[in-house]
Amino acid sequence: MCGIIGYLGARPKGTVLLEGLRSLEYRGYDSAGVAVMQDGRIVTVKREGNLDCLEDALRREPLDGYLGIGHTRWATHGAPSRDNAHPHLDCGGRLALAHNGILENFRELREELERRGHRMASETDSEVLVHLVEENMDDGDLAEALRRSLRRVEGSYAVVCMSLDVPGVIVGARRDSPLLVGVGEGEMFLASAIPAFLRHTRRAVYLQNGDVVEVTRDGARFTDLEGRPVSREASEYPFDFSAAEKGGYEDFMLKEINEQPEAWADTLRGNPYRKGRGFSPDLIPPDLIDPRGLARIIFTACGTSYHAALLGRYVFERWMDIPVEVDIASEFRYRDPRLDPKTLVVAISQSGETADTMAALRGALERKSRTVSIVNTLGSQMTQESDAVIYTHAGPEIGVAATKTFIVQIAAVYLLGLHLAGRTRFLEREEIDRIMAELERVPELLEEVISLEGEVREVAEGFRDCEDFLYLGRNINYPVAMEGALKMKEISYVHAEGYPAGEMKHGPIALLHEGFPVVVLVPRDAVYEKMVSNLEEIRARRAPILAVATRGDDDIAKRCRRVIHVPEVDPILNPVVITPVLQLLAYHLAKLRGCNVDQPRNLAKTVTVE
Ligand code: AGP
Repeated sequence: MCGIIGYLGARPKGTVLLEGLRSLEYRGYDSAGVAVMQDGRIVTVKREGNLDCLEDALRREPLDGYLGIGHTRWATHGAPSRDNAHPHLDCGGRLALAHNGILENFRELREELERRGHRMASETDSEVLVHLVEENMDDGDLAEALRRSLRRVEGSYAVVCMSLDVPGVIVGARRDSPLLVGVGEGEMFLASAIPAFLRHTRRAVYLQNGDVVEVTRDGARFTDLEGRPVSREASEYPFDFSAAEKGGYEDFMLKEINEQPEAWADTLRGNPYRKGRGFSPDLIPPDLIDPRGLARIIFTACGTSYHAALLGRYVFERWMDIPVEVDIASEFRYRDPRLDPKTLVVAISQSGETADTMAALRGALERKSRTVSIVNTLGSQMTQESDAVIYTHAGPEIGVAATKTFIVQIAAVYLLGLHLAGRTRFLEREEIDRIMAELERVPELLEEVISLEGEVREVAEGFRDCEDFLYLGRNINYPVAMEGALKMKEISYVHAEGYPAGEMKHGPIALLHEGFPVVVLVPRDAVYEKMVSNLEEIRARRAPILAVATRGDDDIAKRCRRVIHVPEVDPILNPVVITPVLQLLAYHLAKLRGCNVDQPRNLAKTVTVE
């Protein structure tokens, strides 16, 4: 939540800060602001609304100066407004600070500061921090003032701060919210994520929890919260800047749907799987995670990643003789699951930063369980803390609604499942080879399905005025129904529920009527006949049916208002060929209703607060 940028260098500050914020806008977009050190004072420009509003203001009042910081906000404390937008200033206007995270003890700090005469200009939790720094600036050492202030706060933060008293420096710090230093030629950046400075440099250093950094144009000096020096090295990140641009597509979401074939191929290539031997020991060290000693596997995740986790349970139970559970991370972290070294916890996350998934992972680590994270964002917090990491190589995903990262999470879950199945010898080597060959076919299958876009668009037109949808699937397609419904509600604001088809008779059937469409996932598989029975039950209640069925199944067309046919595949790949149809359906319905698909209201891509 919230995106931060800081810049020290010769380029025009307003432009660099705005460009950086554009790449971070997926993290929050209800208000934004920049602060620049210019002509011996700090000038701020802040606006309510998305970055277009800030850009407009900056066009009228261009900023340059020596250095600057910026912020795009997703409100937690205090409504979206110009006053609550960051950066915040201290009482004398000599310090500016931007923050991402939540300061849990801000109320007591605020009362204390107000008693001492500080005047707060916003309702945010973050503002207390700039006033604390102001009080601690007595000896003119900005980094030390920030360290002292941070020792007083509870909660999470990534923070950047600058002071007129130390004109060539931006200081930053992090705890549980990400912050990186981008290292350029004679210029330096601070940001919440790499795309913010990718057009200028690929060299970056991730701050670790508890780090404080003092950045000048020539370098960065890292310490811990007590001021002891710590050593951090810059790495080169192999991102392509074009991945963070629309590349001719109308929206990032559509671009990212179209990138799925490549993302799947890259994920297979990036996790080389040796026939009959599984992953290389570099990926999953055998002494660390030996499936033969495992008593239980628990998947945990949030949102779309949770749907990939649900899917994982179906294949893992089929492929190995180990009990498998799935839990939503925000529930798992507050339960008392019996965790021990014989439990493997698999955490799935696009960002590698989601607060609840991170907490679930840490709970597992504290109780000495083995942990594997399936993550898309290189170097993110979860990758640093888990025992092993399987990267999904989807590249940066900018659209707030997860699309390509869901598809590659399925790839990663399947690869991990095959690896464990091979090591427990539950699956024969030939069977693993056969499934691997199926996984390698997926990019062409995805291309075929994505080429159905025109047909899906036309179907969406027929349903554009509907306000409710029910999505039904069984077995491995039940999580796909849930994901389809989540996409629909996220981007089109239409109410949609994903349900296991067998549960329909236990309640949702009461909702059905002529104006309540049901999306039925009915591909050829072991539960096909059961799905057809459900379909008949819906038909009898006159609810319009949109079916997704296997090519060649012409019988279904007679029973439904519309059918979209997908290629015939091994049933474990039905989720992969059905998902793009549901993504495109949500996409086109949202576009027809005039919604902003890349930045849906109220959402942020990365949920780093509870
Ligand atoms: C997906 O479309 C959502 N925006 C959201 O549910 C997301 O999947 C969830 O917040 C989890 O994020 P993560 O994968 O980065 O952990």
